[in-house]
Amino acid sequence: MAAKSTKSIFFCQSCGYESAKWMGQCPGCHAWNTMVEEPVRATARKSGERKRTGTVAAGSGRRAVSLKEIPADETVRYDTGIGEFNRVLGSGLVKGALTLLGGDPGIGKSTLLLQVARLMSAGGRRVLYVSGEESLSQIRLRASRIGEFSDALMFLCETDLDEISGVIEDVKPAVLIIDSIQTMSVSEVSAAPGSVSQVREVTGLLLKIAKSMEISVFIVGHVTKEGTVAGPRVLEHMVDTVLYFEGDRHAAYRILRAVKNRFGSTNEIGVFEMGERGLHEVENPSQFMLDGRPKGASGSIVTCAVEGTRPILMEVQALVSRTAFGFPRRQATGADLNRVNLLMAVLEKRVGLALADCDAYVNLAGGVRMQEPALDLGICLALVSSFRNFAVEEKEIVFGEVGLSGEVRAVTLAEQRIQEAARLGFTSCILPAAQASRIRGIDGVRLIGVRDLGDALKAMGIR
Ligand code: TYD
Ligand code: MG
Repeated sequence: MAAKSTKSIFFCQSCGYESAKWMGQCPGCHAWNTMVEEPVRATARKSGERKRTGTVAAGSGRRAVSLKEIPADETVRYDTGIGEFNRVLGSGLVKGALTLLGGDPGIGKSTLLLQVARLMSAGGRRVLYVSGEESLSQIRLRASRIGEFSDALMFLCETDLDEISGVIEDVKPAVLIIDSIQTMSVSEVSAAPGSVSQVREVTGLLLKIAKSMEISVFIVGHVTKEGTVAGPRVLEHMVDTVLYFEGDRHAAYRILRAVKNRFGSTNEIGVFEMGERGLHEVENPSQFMLDGRPKGASGSIVTCAVEGTRPILMEVQALVSRTAFGFPRRQATGADLNRVNLLMAVLEKRVGLALADCDAYVNLAGGVRMQEPALDLGICLALVSSFRNFAVEEKEIVFGEVGLSGEVRAVTLAEQRIQEAARLGFTSCILPAAQASRIRGIDGVRLIGVRDLGDALKAMGIR
């Protein structure tokens, strides 16, 4: 029999499912071979979990209140100094908020937070940056690429949270950055750093620190290849805000996205560009996406996707060529391949395009990944344009969802999409007929409503 102090539990490393015995497949997320044994303390602190007293009148003097009795203190928000970052957080960083920043290794999480730390400390606000991943000299090296730093920004290389808490008491920062959660540990838990029980325990303690001392805490978490923050869907429900920093490591642009936000909407995204001297905000993502678009080339169509509430113009490219060997090849970069296959089947059946013995490659230029149905029409027209080798009007954008009968269906936020196109100098827009009739008067953009793919081809001048 194991002694009580060395009790252990099996945790799924992917979703945090707990079990007393080992299992090959996790019942929580159905992943295989993810259950790992981790020793736990008999009295493991679990944040958010309260000891049951058994009786209602436990005599603690607590009582429930009505809404009217709650004092209306305004939440204090700090300006982070980076407009795009503020926007994603919901107009600034809330005092005492616990924020998780997830992303692939090397995407720029440390760089982003270092820049935020720099700007926030520039006004004399105390910021403590704790790194468990890099040495002080490595941090200095990165900092030297970014610029001048104020003395209000302090650094600490440490992975033991008990030590770190001591330093926090000393420094009393307004903002605390923990880079990364997977390197941090508390001594009471004997499991390895990065394991579910460590990650959970450390986050629980950080939550306490954030709330009791009113420190805004950022936690960096690496995403594993399965796409969750390691250890950690367990972590997502403990924090106030979950941000993901994503993008293609080979492309310069990065998108910051909120997937959970107790203090704002999750619809906003921030766009950044990684340069020689750190990250820069991209205030005009559409312009950025359309840079370097070929002129007069077939198979290139500009469409407008909406990320959250933000319209972004982008170029859909298609290349259709005759299959050299028996089996046609289909490939999609940035777009969903299944969707592309479906749209090709619709084109074949409803428009009569003989695509069955053609290779087709579809690419969303700039390395973006989008799955919005509004891109359908753009993808279809790009395929036709390439198939017929017909270059379309340069100042024209298209958007609309394509249904299985080849009909063009309405999409959300049509007006905003057209406005964005107008802003960048586009002069005509092909859109679902249902919406063209409702929207009027956007300066300088001719609206062409189409009912189905046949209409759309006619409108583009492709036969
Ligand atoms: P980093 O912030 O270390 O990523 P993470 O913390 O998410 O793992 O940044 C990673 C990459 O960014 C690294 O490959 C170097 C590059 N980089 C630049 O291109 N320019 C810069 O100014 C800086 C600081 C980093
Ligand atoms: Mg890092």
